[in-house]
Amino acid sequence: MRTHHPVFYDEPSQQWQVFRYRDVVAVLTDTAHFSSQHNTQAGSFFEGTVIAKDPPEHRHMRNLVNLAFTPRAIGRLTQTITSITQDLLEPILPLGHMNAVSDLAVPLPARVIAALLGVPAQDWDILQRWAQTEHLTSQQRPTSPQASQQFLQNLQQEMFAYFAALLKERRRTPGEDILSLLSQAEVDGERLSEDALLRFCVLLLGAGQETTRNLIATFLWCVTEDPALLQRLIREPEMVPAAIEEVLRYLPPIWSLSRRTTTEVELAGQRIPAHQTVQAWISSANRDPEYFSRPDQFDIQRSPNRHLAFGHGIHFCLGAPLARLETQIALPLLLSQLKGLQRVRNDEPITATLAPLLTITRLPL
Ligand code: HEM
Repeated sequence: MRTHHPVFYDEPSQQWQVFRYRDVVAVLTDTAHFSSQHNTQAGSFFEGTVIAKDPPEHRHMRNLVNLAFTPRAIGRLTQTITSITQDLLEPILPLGHMNAVSDLAVPLPARVIAALLGVPAQDWDILQRWAQTEHLTSQQRPTSPQASQQFLQNLQQEMFAYFAALLKERRRTPGEDILSLLSQAEVDGERLSEDALLRFCVLLLGAGQETTRNLIATFLWCVTEDPALLQRLIREPEMVPAAIEEVLRYLPPIWSLSRRTTTEVELAGQRIPAHQTVQAWISSANRDPEYFSRPDQFDIQRSPNRHLAFGHGIHFCLGAPLARLETQIALPLLLSQLKGLQRVRNDEPITATLAPLLTITRLPL
């Protein structure tokens, strides 16, 4: 498709598909023609949040939320991430086997976001339940539209009520968590409204959990695919960050980003009419041979590695430093403690939304 139909109208889905790196970057850069506002329809979880805003509203809201995602605020989580990972690994060590998804990839990001928001440890399981894909995406919602609508409304109310109570508490006794920071953050004399703050909490759960879960699971899938690579990463943990970047390129947690055209626009010689949905395929751009040599080869030495896994332009992932920090701490810890990792089940497909269900076995040392 990249070569013969780089920009392609797909009749069944009635969406335009964009495959080449340069065109994906063009779509994500040109916010005047390719809008993010449709990303969230009324009633959806991300409605009114930064991810669904175009300029100039986007800049204002992003400047505000940036105040809470400073390198200092993220760096403060280093010790927390280490102890959460150790707590999760501890019960696994004597067993000698683990389910990499349910034992690590799901709970770690959920607990880290909980810690980031200042959610007390006794409530972490509640956030984990909400953060599970099944709840925040359509996969296991009731099938009838009315039941589905009701399900979403109930869930949203439950989450908003929880975060509203937490916000009240943080306003009374502020901590170093981002909810405390954001409730006081000001840009040009303006603060985030309470509604915007609550929606942002829900966005963080949705945007930060499933993606990081997929990255952890896919990393483990890639390294258990190649025993020599696994041994190398155990011997040279300083190579883990490069391996994580290569996993992000090779099997990105989000495969495509959608935008809606505001007016007629030309892309790679194709005229796309106004009000059309456009899918910009990160997974295809990340394998574009014009930008990556031997693109289908998994190569942790790849340099530079300008993958688009975290997006591009004004909506570039706010949580990228956190996702990197989290995986750069947790994965070397896991590799060093479970030295003889081996995959014992390999029959689950990898999809954009469903991480592979890996069962990992620790071999006798
Ligand atoms: C935006 C990927 C982790 C919060 C994005 C976008 C991508 C992405 C592709 C761009 C969306 C667009 O252009 O429409 C990822 C991946 C992650 C990850 C691959 C993990 C491996 C996180 C984490 C958080 C987070 C841990 C926070 C806790 C956000 C937010 C946005 C965003 C708030 C919206 C930024 C904006 O619109 O200005 N992410 N993300 N993400 N991400 Fe992430």
